Amino acid sequence: MQFTLILIVFGLVFMRNVRTISVDEHGYILYCPCMGRFGNQADHFLGALGFAHGLNRTLVLPPWVEYRKGEAKSIQVPFDQYFQVAALSEYHKVITMENFMTQLAPALWPPAERVSFCYTERMGLDGRVNGSCNAKSGNPFGPFWDTFSVDFAKSEFFGPKLNYDVYHHDMASKWTEKYPADKWPVIAFTGAPASFPIQRENRELHQYLRWSVKIENAARDFIRSSLPKGAFMGIHLRNGLDWVRACDHVKESANLFSSPQCLGYRNEKGSLTLDMCLPSKDIIIRQIKRQIKNHKEAYKNNDIKSIFVASDSNHMIHDLNEALKRMNVTVVKLSENNPHVDLAILGMSNHFIGNCVSSYSAFVKRERDAKGFPSSFWAFPAEKHSLKATNAGLTHEEL
Ligand SMILES: *[C@@H]1O[C@H](CO)[C@@H](O)[C@H](O)[C@H]1NC(C)=O
Ligand SMILES: *[C@@H]1O[C@H](CO)[C@@H](O)[C@H](O)[C@H]1NC(C)=O
Ligand SMILES: *[C@@H]1O[C@H](CO)[C@@H](O)[C@H](O)[C@H]1NC(C)=O
Repeated sequence: MQFTLILIVFGLVFMRNVRTISVDEHGYILYCPCMGRFGNQADHFLGALGFAHGLNRTLVLPPWVEYRKGEAKSIQVPFDQYFQVAALSEYHKVITMENFMTQLAPALWPPAERVSFCYTERMGLDGRVNGSCNAKSGNPFGPFWDTFSVDFAKSEFFGPKLNYDVYHHDMASKWTEKYPADKWPVIAFTGAPASFPIQRENRELHQYLRWSVKIENAARDFIRSSLPKGAFMGIHLRNGLDWVRACDHVKESANLFSSPQCLGYRNEKGSLTLDMCLPSKDIIIRQIKRQIKNHKEAYKNNDIKSIFVASDSNHMIHDLNEALKRMNVTVVKLSENNPHVDLAILGMSNHFIGNCVSSYSAFVKRERDAKGFPSSFWAFPAEKHSLKATNAGLTHEEL
């Protein structure tokens, strides 16, 4: 009797295990989100998701790579700390890297078969190329794979015949032909199998990227407890020193970083200006005021009561509060630094004004597009046009 019970219990546990470790015969995609901070990694993530979907391989969800002041090595934050795995599963097969490494890798990806994929040879720390992807050389490359005790036995170069654009040239079949899943169950990329900025076709995949309950609740709690009742506007001010320097490149570029999100991928909607990259205080205040008025006209009895500011450097809280005092609008920010909760709050705002060049703003814009929420960008379209276009008869004095 007892023995049978034990057998049944054992059988149940065993069956559960069997179910959780069932192997995808179409294979797996792994990669290191080794470029940039969160905004860039999110662009790359959606690209990798589209790529894995194109090849019908399970996408292994990598941790997010973060950098802390004063620490030489990157820190890896499990994917599901920020996002829901289940929501992604609605679109495609996924597994967290933690689960993949503990449950599948020992049998499916033994150390001797760990091959790193890259387009072409990558320089090592000594500055030489030597027939290797050198997938672990440098930060965050080394620390990322070390988090899972991964070393690579070999390198594989897939360029120049293959690329990541699975929406053209039958690229997915070419990958599957060259790297069939029975011989290559795991393809581990040195960097993300995706472009930056995000390819147009992958933008809509953002609808499957939903904040974890923890982040979502933190955002809602802040809105409930720290914002006055009523509508609020979210704004992103990207103005740190690194950004000021990056905006220097506006002069020689038609598009920069995420700017295709407003200018179009072939500049069909306009050209890049310094104001778009680094709007002046004047532009920012004018545009907020204009948007408050637009909102008042469009949504009766739901006036903007507050502005929520996210910034990497200067939130301009004092300047904005001074400028908006007479409109009864208060300006607030999170009391502590939390870029992900910032993003979640911006995503929930009644209107969002972002920086067209910034991938951080691009994250918010895509999320809001998926939800049908309105957004606009600093200094785009260029001010003269927009004043003429809306022809509201507003002068700067009135604003
Ligand atoms: C994709 O993979 C899944 C299993 O992982 C399989 O059920 C499905 O038929 C595959 N689709 C195609 C088009 O091969
Ligand atoms: C290439 O050089 C790196 C050091 O820069 C070394 O760790 C690696 O083993 C070398 N790989 C090959 C294939 O020679
Ligand atoms: C600002 O708020 C106060 C108090 O709620 C109210 O009396 C006043 O009319 C408001 N002013 C404007 C311009 O809405």
